[in-house]
Amino acid sequence: MKIAICPGSFDPVTLGHKDIIERAAELFDKVIVLVMTNSSKHSMFTVDERVAFLKKCIASKNVEVDTFNGLLVDYAKKQDAVAIVKGLRAVSDFDYEFQQALTNKSLLPGIETVFLAANGKNMFLSSSMVKEVCCLNGDISQFVPCEVLEDVIKRCKGEINND
Ligand code: PNS
Repeated sequence: MKIAICPGSFDPVTLGHKDIIERAAELFDKVIVLVMTNSSKHSMFTVDERVAFLKKCIASKNVEVDTFNGLLVDYAKKQDAVAIVKGLRAVSDFDYEFQQALTNKSLLPGIETVFLAANGKNMFLSSSMVKEVCCLNGDISQFVPCEVLEDVIKRCKGEINND
Protein backbone atom coordinates (compact mmCIF):
# COMPACT_ATOMS: atom_id res chain seq x y z
CA MET A 1 0.00 0.00 0.00
CA LYS A 2 1.45 3.37 -1.02
CA ILE A 3 0.96 5.93 1.73
CA ALA A 4 1.50 9.66 1.26
CA ILE A 5 1.52 12.46 3.79
CA CYS A 6 0.15 15.94 3.14
CA PRO A 7 1.72 18.00 5.95
CA GLY A 8 0.97 21.60 6.80
CA SER A 9 -0.27 24.14 9.30
CA PHE A 10 -3.76 24.33 7.72
CA ASP A 11 -4.49 27.48 9.73
CA PRO A 12 -7.20 27.27 8.39
CA VAL A 13 -7.67 24.84 5.50
CA THR A 14 -8.26 26.62 2.18
CA LEU A 15 -9.73 25.50 -1.14
CA GLY A 16 -6.12 25.25 -2.33
CA HIS A 17 -5.29 22.68 0.38
CA LYS A 18 -8.51 20.77 -0.32
CA ASP A 19 -7.68 20.56 -4.02
CA ILE A 20 -4.14 19.23 -3.37
CA ILE A 21 -5.38 16.67 -0.80
CA GLU A 22 -8.10 15.36 -3.11
CA ARG A 23 -5.69 15.09 -6.03
CA ALA A 24 -3.16 13.27 -3.81
CA ALA A 25 -5.94 10.86 -2.82
CA GLU A 26 -6.29 9.91 -6.50
CA LEU A 27 -2.58 9.13 -6.76
CA PHE A 28 -1.93 7.16 -3.56
CA ASP A 29 -3.67 4.29 -1.75
CA LYS A 30 -3.87 6.25 1.48
CA VAL A 31 -3.24 9.92 2.29
CA ILE A 32 -2.61 11.21 5.79
CA VAL A 33 -3.26 14.92 6.18
CA LEU A 34 -0.89 15.86 8.98
CA VAL A 35 -1.59 18.98 11.01
CA MET A 36 1.77 20.21 12.28
CA THR A 37 3.34 23.19 13.96
CA ASN A 38 5.37 25.52 11.79
CA SER A 39 7.87 27.08 14.20
CA SER A 40 8.04 30.26 12.13
CA LYS A 41 4.28 30.91 12.24
CA HIS A 42 1.88 31.84 15.01
CA SER A 43 -1.34 29.85 14.62
CA MET A 44 -4.73 31.46 15.00
CA PHE A 45 -6.71 28.21 15.21
CA THR A 46 -6.01 25.45 17.73
CA VAL A 47 -4.80 22.08 16.47
CA ASP A 48 -8.18 20.56 17.37
CA GLU A 49 -10.02 23.20 15.35
CA ARG A 50 -7.74 22.72 12.35
CA VAL A 51 -8.28 18.95 12.49
CA ALA A 52 -12.06 19.40 12.81
CA PHE A 53 -12.13 21.74 9.78
CA LEU A 54 -10.19 19.25 7.66
CA LYS A 55 -12.40 16.34 8.70
CA LYS A 56 -15.48 18.38 7.87
CA CYS A 57 -14.45 19.25 4.32
CA ILE A 58 -12.51 16.23 3.03
CA ALA A 59 -14.77 13.40 1.95
CA SER A 60 -12.30 11.10 0.16
CA LYS A 61 -12.50 7.60 1.67
CA ASN A 62 -8.73 7.04 1.66
CA VAL A 63 -7.84 10.25 3.52
CA GLU A 64 -7.15 10.38 7.26
CA VAL A 65 -6.35 13.41 9.39
CA ASP A 66 -3.75 13.23 12.15
CA THR A 67 -1.50 15.55 14.17
CA PHE A 68 2.17 15.38 15.07
CA ASN A 69 4.45 17.68 16.97
CA GLY A 70 7.89 16.41 15.97
CA LEU A 71 9.96 15.90 12.86
CA LEU A 72 7.92 15.12 9.76
CA VAL A 73 10.33 12.37 8.68
CA ASP A 74 9.93 10.57 12.02
CA TYR A 75 6.19 10.41 11.48
CA ALA A 76 6.67 9.37 7.83
CA LYS A 77 9.00 6.55 8.87
CA LYS A 78 6.58 5.29 11.52
CA GLN A 79 3.75 5.21 8.97
CA ASP A 80 5.94 3.64 6.28
CA ALA A 81 4.98 6.50 3.95
CA VAL A 82 6.62 6.68 0.51
CA ALA A 83 5.90 10.32 -0.25
CA ILE A 84 5.28 13.78 1.13
CA VAL A 85 2.85 15.72 -1.07
CA LYS A 86 2.96 19.52 -1.19
CA GLY A 87 1.21 22.04 -3.37
CA LEU A 88 3.31 24.58 -5.27
CA ARG A 89 1.81 27.93 -6.04
CA ALA A 90 3.90 30.72 -7.54
CA VAL A 91 7.70 30.74 -7.88
CA SER A 92 7.74 32.36 -4.44
CA ASP A 93 6.97 28.96 -2.84
CA PHE A 94 9.83 27.22 -4.54
CA ASP A 95 12.88 28.08 -2.37
CA TYR A 96 11.12 27.29 0.88
CA GLU A 97 9.54 24.06 -0.39
CA PHE A 98 12.74 22.89 -2.10
CA GLN A 99 14.72 23.50 1.09
CA GLN A 100 12.23 21.42 3.08
CA ALA A 101 12.18 18.64 0.48
CA LEU A 102 15.99 18.38 0.46
CA THR A 103 16.16 18.48 4.26
CA ASN A 104 13.58 15.71 4.54
CA LYS A 105 15.37 13.64 1.89
CA SER A 106 18.69 14.01 3.76
CA LEU A 107 17.08 12.93 7.01
CA LEU A 108 15.13 10.05 5.45
CA PRO A 109 16.51 9.05 2.03
CA GLY A 110 13.59 6.69 1.38
CA ILE A 111 11.04 9.50 1.25
CA GLU A 112 10.16 11.43 -1.91
CA THR A 113 8.55 14.86 -1.99
CA VAL A 114 5.95 15.14 -4.73
CA PHE A 115 4.91 18.64 -5.77
CA LEU A 116 1.50 19.18 -7.29
CA ALA A 117 1.03 22.43 -9.20
CA ALA A 118 -1.67 24.55 -7.62
CA ASN A 119 -4.83 24.96 -9.60
CA GLY A 120 -4.76 28.27 -11.49
CA LYS A 121 -7.51 29.84 -9.40
CA ASN A 122 -5.68 28.97 -6.16
CA MET A 123 -2.31 30.36 -7.24
CA PHE A 124 -2.51 33.33 -4.89
CA LEU A 125 -4.41 31.66 -2.07
CA SER A 126 -2.93 31.29 1.43
CA SER A 127 -4.24 30.76 4.95
CA SER A 128 -2.63 34.07 6.00
CA MET A 129 -4.52 35.93 3.30
CA VAL A 130 -7.79 34.23 4.31
CA LYS A 131 -7.30 35.28 7.96
CA GLU A 132 -6.45 38.85 7.03
CA VAL A 133 -9.40 39.29 4.65
CA CYS A 134 -11.80 37.64 7.10
CA CYS A 135 -10.66 39.62 10.13
CA LEU A 136 -11.17 42.81 8.11
CA ASN A 137 -14.72 41.71 7.24
CA GLY A 138 -13.95 40.73 3.65
CA ASP A 139 -15.71 37.91 1.82
CA ILE A 140 -13.74 34.65 2.09
CA SER A 141 -16.43 32.39 0.59
CA GLN A 142 -14.39 31.79 -2.57
CA PHE A 143 -11.27 30.88 -0.58
CA VAL A 144 -12.34 28.33 2.05
CA PRO A 145 -14.45 25.14 1.77
CA CYS A 146 -18.15 25.88 2.30
CA GLU A 147 -18.33 23.27 5.10
CA VAL A 148 -16.07 25.38 7.34
CA LEU A 149 -16.88 28.89 6.15
CA GLU A 150 -19.21 29.79 8.99
CA ASP A 151 -16.86 28.47 11.71
CA VAL A 152 -13.88 30.34 10.28
CA ILE A 153 -15.85 33.60 10.08
CA LYS A 154 -17.15 33.23 13.65
CA ARG A 155 -13.64 32.66 15.00
CA CYS A 156 -12.15 35.56 13.04
CA LYS A 157 -14.85 37.84 14.38
CA GLY A 158 -14.19 36.61 17.91
CA GLU A 159 -17.65 35.10 18.32
CA ILE A 160 -16.02 31.83 19.38
CA ASN A 161 -12.87 32.09 21.46
CA ASN A 162 -10.76 29.01 21.90
CA ASP A 163 -7.55 30.56 23.22
O1 PNS B 1 1.68 24.82 5.86
P1 PNS B 1 3.12 25.11 6.21
O2 PNS B 1 3.19 26.06 7.39
O3 PNS B 1 3.92 25.61 5.06
O4 PNS B 1 3.74 23.70 6.66
C1 PNS B 1 5.11 23.61 7.03
C2 PNS B 1 5.36 22.31 7.79
C3 PNS B 1 4.50 22.24 9.05
C4 PNS B 1 5.05 21.13 6.88
C5 PNS B 1 6.88 22.29 8.17
O5 PNS B 1 7.16 23.40 8.96
C6 PNS B 1 7.28 21.00 8.89
O6 PNS B 1 7.50 19.99 8.26
N1 PNS B 1 7.35 21.08 10.24
C7 PNS B 1 7.66 19.91 11.04
C8 PNS B 1 9.09 19.97 11.59
C9 PNS B 1 10.08 19.38 10.61
O7 PNS B 1 10.03 18.21 10.26
N2 PNS B 1 11.04 20.23 10.14
C10 PNS B 1 12.08 19.79 9.23
C11 PNS B 1 11.62 19.80 7.79
S1 PNS B 1 11.78 21.36 7.08
